[in-house]
Amino acid sequence: MSSWQYIREEKRGKDAHFKTSFAQIIEVSLSLNFRRIAIQTGQVVSLSIDGFKLIWGWMIRQYVVEPLEHIDGLKDGDHIFLRLSSVGLNSFIRFVTTKLILTAPTMRSTVLLFICFTAVCALPPPNSPTVPTLDDFSKFAPKQDVQFPLPPTTLPSEFAWYEPDIRTQSRSPCPMLNSLANHGMLPRDGKNITADMFADALKKYLNVQWSFWWVVAQTAIQTVKPGAAAIDLHDLAMHNGIQHDAALTRNDRGQGQYFTRRNATLVQQLLKMNHGRSISYLHMARLRRLREGQSEAWNPNYSLPGQNIDSVALNKWFLAIDQAAVPLLVLSDNVPDKKENTGKVSVDRLSTFFNYERLPYENGWIPSRYELSGLQIFDGIRKVVSYYTSGPDVVRSPIGLRLTDGGPPSNSDPDY
Ligand code: HEM
Repeated sequence: MSSWQYIREEKRGKDAHFKTSFAQIIEVSLSLNFRRIAIQTGQVVSLSIDGFKLIWGWMIRQYVVEPLEHIDGLKDGDHIFLRLSSVGLNSFIRFVTTKLILTAPTMRSTVLLFICFTAVCALPPPNSPTVPTLDDFSKFAPKQDVQFPLPPTTLPSEFAWYEPDIRTQSRSPCPMLNSLANHGMLPRDGKNITADMFADALKKYLNVQWSFWWVVAQTAIQTVKPGAAAIDLHDLAMHNGIQHDAALTRNDRGQGQYFTRRNATLVQQLLKMNHGRSISYLHMARLRRLREGQSEAWNPNYSLPGQNIDSVALNKWFLAIDQAAVPLLVLSDNVPDKKENTGKVSVDRLSTFFNYERLPYENGWIPSRYELSGLQIFDGIRKVVSYYTSGPDVVRSPIGLRLTDGGPPSNSDPDY
């Protein structure tokens, strides 16, 4: 498949604009330092930044793909190289390269192209305003970061926790979103929730960065219900949408029914990762290894795409690592008078959270008075990744589950 004939670049000031029509799958490779982006149906993207693959689907679509206009002949599955704006030598070389690409390929232009392309790859990435950076989520969200009063330090009575009635209430495989709905911080029926509502609740009651979570929520909504403005929590159970195998506390879909609900044995396993003491990034990283090994052994259809794939649309492994890091960031204590938190969470807090899907106020937790930024979340993710890669490949279950025993008993409660 040729990468070259579908590129056009128009210089307008500092920005490079691309024109294309695309239907289903376009793979866009940033030729600069080989960062790769894949776009599937214009919705979901995985993008490598600093070695991490992120889902940026909605934002890439909105800010990169939609501005692309028509290029004749672009078809499903065609590969193009996308170049973002930059200045100086970088820009010049890319401009020349593009011109070459646009001319009918001859031997001479192909050789020149090769030389230019090599030169481009050798250059440092440009300081481009159009390359998404991790600290400007607000650029991609519809509003600037939204301010709310600090979250309550004690649980107001209007937010009392109730166990959901799953005949009428919708719940997800995410313990945090379920907790928020169980407290009435998201609609208690778990239905018809927009990205704004997700981001508002997360900011208001957990003090996390509104724009970051708006982008996450919008990406999730567009993944499980393309084109929808709102979803029910159960929509998030779509397997290999956001939901994936080898979850920390859920069985895999391939292991029988009731996979969206927490499995009590797996929660027990999580709580024992540090012999009953607080859980930190190291233990979460070990647990990730353990769960991946368990799923491989127990689920004949196991898959967790992403870790070794450059340009998949949905990187489940990255999501799984993220889901191991966020509870530590959100539920741990703040270091007094500093923005950081300890990244360690006591097992009683984790038990309340994972077993009952309740915010652990009763265990001395209060939401941070400092906003938890998207960048801090990436820091936490980096820590889990670094323990994951430097730790042992095989981790034993602290509660003695053996790979040969077929896995923990299935849930007796039906799925949400
Ligand atoms: C709009 C925001 C969010 C969305 C759409 C979302 C969605 C999801 C989904 C679909 C899963 C299922 C993964 C699976 O079982 O395969 C999940 C898992 C998880 N989520 Fe969320 N989530 C969000 C925010 C949060 C936040 C703020 C936290 C903070 C603690 C959180 C904590 C978790 C954890 C710990 C898991 C892993 C559960 C497990 O593997 O057992 N989520 N999330």
